Amino acid sequence: MQGLVPVPGPWAGGAPVVANGSVFSLKEAEELRERTGVDGIMSARGLLRNPALFAGHEVTPLECIKRYAELAMSYGTTTFIFHHHLMFMMEGIMSSAEKCTFNVLSSIPAILEHLEQGYGIVPSFGEQHGRPLP
Ligand SMILES: Cc1cc2nc3c(=O)[nH]c(=O)nc-3n(C[C@H](O)[C@H](O)[C@H](O)COP(=O)(O)O)c2cc1C
Repeated sequence: MQGLVPVPGPWAGGAPVVANGSVFSLKEAEELRERTGVDGIMSARGLLRNPALFAGHEVTPLECIKRYAELAMSYGTTTFIFHHHLMFMMEGIMSSAEKCTFNVLSSIPAILEHLEQGYGIVPSFGEQHGRPLP
């Protein structure tokens, strides 16, 4: 984020300006906003790794993983996408050894069993969509 300079307002046409790029924590988001004066901050890779980033969590909370599993099962997903997202979300949680184990899980039941055995995460299926995180 070095090299960014505050841009004096008002922004072109009064349209809101949003900044992004390498935001991986709430602190970085707040610093970027302060330094640039933009109206909002986006994150792509940061939110893939930690969907609760903007709530101030440093790593993905287990409740967030549980909710993701519930929504994924409720809306429907593929094994590949389910596995891929969890690899991102659990990157800062899993040890290297666990990543090796997790990496070769090849079915949704095997992934769910891993979440239960390793973290006590048991998703509740059939819940209403859109329940906010506590
Ligand atoms: C999974 C993923 C999908 C993306 N898809 C698009 C896209 O469709 N169009 C686009 O302009 N940028 C896309 N981007 C780029 C992001 O919008 C963003 O500019 C870039 O990742 C840098 O922000 P970040 O450091 O927060 O990841 C994508 C990024 C990721 C990680």
